[in-house]
Amino acid sequence: MGVELAWLLLLLAHGLLSCASSSVDRGDFPPNFVFGASTSAYQIEGAYLEGTVEDGSNGDTADDHYHRYMEDIELMNSLGVNSYRFSISWTRILPRGRVGYVNPDGVAFYDALIDALLEKGIQPFVTISHYDIPHELDKQYGGWLSPEIQKDFGYFAEVCFKMFGDRVKLWTTLNEPNLFAKFSYMDGWYPLGHCSHPFGNCASGNSSIEPYIAGHNMILSHANAVSIYRKKYQGKQGGHIGIVVCSRWYEPFCNTTEDILAAERALAFSGPWYSPFLRNDFFFFAKDAHDLGDYPPEMRMILGPDLPEFTQAQKKKLLETKLDFIGLNHYTAVYVKDCMFSPCEVDPVDGDARVVTSSERDGVLIGEPTGSEHYYSVPYAMEKVVMYYKQRYNNTPMYITENGYAQASNSSMTAEDFTNDTQRVDYIRSYLIFLASAIRKGADVRGYFVWSLLDNFEWTSGYTIRFGLYHVDFKTLKRTPKLSAKWYGKFLKESLLGTGLQKESSQLLQYSA
Ligand SMILES: *[C@@H]1O[C@H](CO)[C@@H](O)[C@H](O)[C@H]1NC(C)=O
Ligand SMILES: *[C@@H]1O[C@H](CO)[C@@H](O)[C@H](O)[C@H]1NC(C)=O
Ligand SMILES: *[C@@H]1O[C@H](CO)[C@@H](O)[C@H](O)[C@H]1NC(C)=O
Ligand SMILES: *[C@@H]1O[C@H](CO)[C@@H](O)[C@H](O)[C@H]1NC(C)=O
Repeated sequence: MGVELAWLLLLLAHGLLSCASSSVDRGDFPPNFVFGASTSAYQIEGAYLEGTVEDGSNGDTADDHYHRYMEDIELMNSLGVNSYRFSISWTRILPRGRVGYVNPDGVAFYDALIDALLEKGIQPFVTISHYDIPHELDKQYGGWLSPEIQKDFGYFAEVCFKMFGDRVKLWTTLNEPNLFAKFSYMDGWYPLGHCSHPFGNCASGNSSIEPYIAGHNMILSHANAVSIYRKKYQGKQGGHIGIVVCSRWYEPFCNTTEDILAAERALAFSGPWYSPFLRNDFFFFAKDAHDLGDYPPEMRMILGPDLPEFTQAQKKKLLETKLDFIGLNHYTAVYVKDCMFSPCEVDPVDGDARVVTSSERDGVLIGEPTGSEHYYSVPYAMEKVVMYYKQRYNNTPMYITENGYAQASNSSMTAEDFTNDTQRVDYIRSYLIFLASAIRKGADVRGYFVWSLLDNFEWTSGYTIRFGLYHVDFKTLKRTPKLSAKWYGKFLKESLLGTGLQKESSQLLQYSA
């Protein structure tokens, strides 16, 4: 049998197999698709800030990646990922913000990390700021609440482009500003702990305005960085730049107009909050030209004057700084009930959209529980979220910048309990099945990153929740591959002619021979 015919039959067999949505393999994704694993600086490097977290821990040592990055790159290499998403610690590069010095040790660390990645054929995918900002900037002017931060962020981003942009071709400005603004300034769950009644009891803050002031400064900081990149670096460096938002899927609780609209509002208040620079938002198309570069109309309608205004000059800048791609962190889904037409209790995360969320309906959970409260495995939500952004933003290229499974831990669990993570394998596999389905329906998705490469410091959960493909013993810092690492590695290495598929296909070939 000719090679071409064999190929054709394999492709055909593959087509048949991929329609059966119970399996997924590398061949379901485009050949140049980016497959990686994600981390963030503070969660793995070993840092030096303080925080109040569940188990009283902090990120001082974390995974000590700062000293073990060569070992960690070897782990990535053995997985077979072609990209690694990590963030740059602002404090490590500019300990005092734009008034201070550029820390040569910080630059040297990222230089070495980037070079070592490229040597292994692993493309760096860099988040400029993943939550952490120099403490100094909070002390000086209140961090994200002040417009001053726009200059600092632009300065920091430019240092990154200048130092690393010759080798880094995929940049994102901010990670999950939608969650970060709410957790820091609406519920007060994150350090700084700002909030007010009825969202929470904090010593200071104003939940009805501060999240949007912080968000406004994040958007303008992002625009500043993108504008600098476009004007001074993109031409000669040839990279791409976007932003990462966290987007849960919101499923209407009841099949009523009220709950369907509530779900749409909750969605608009998540990622689209940060997309005023997306010229192709079809909602804006329908409106007057001067509405271009503004917040989603769903937010403007509800928040009114609590949502800051952009000046004409800012709008112009936002429109000039169109995104090259959108990064989506997606994990789970919730049911949404309307609170606009019937009053309900305040929802600490989504209440501003006049909705209340719930993980169950008529006593049935929305998906399989995971080790983290509120995180249920709802694989179909991956396809729905991707299709929503595809439609709303005219199929702007997307990367799934985070997706992964939370494993609970306690002191009586053995290393074997952690490494036999069959639930994580099921989770990743089923989410990839629905991602492949969205791609078949035309969504321009360019990559997928598992959160996370390593068990790490999970913010307010400390080290009690584990997301890693690799288990980390936090006493010895030893890394051990979990079943999921082996599965992901096998998945990545099985090309169209790879072992698993070849077996199934060769049976089909035998029948047709
Ligand atoms: C929050 O700010 C708004 C607008 O300035 C004001 O009306 C409201 O009273 C403030 N709330 C608190 C709790 O300070
Ligand atoms: C919701 O209701 C509409 C109209 O009553 C119906 O066509 C549709 O099938 C229902 N959807 C679901 C998911 O039940
Ligand atoms: C620890 O976790 C294991 C496995 O999930 C569970 O069976 C056990 O009950 C837990 N022990 C405690 C003390 O929570
Ligand atoms: C791993 O866990 C599965 C159930 O989740 C169990 O069937 C299997 O025997 C376990 N394997 C090992 C090596 O413990």
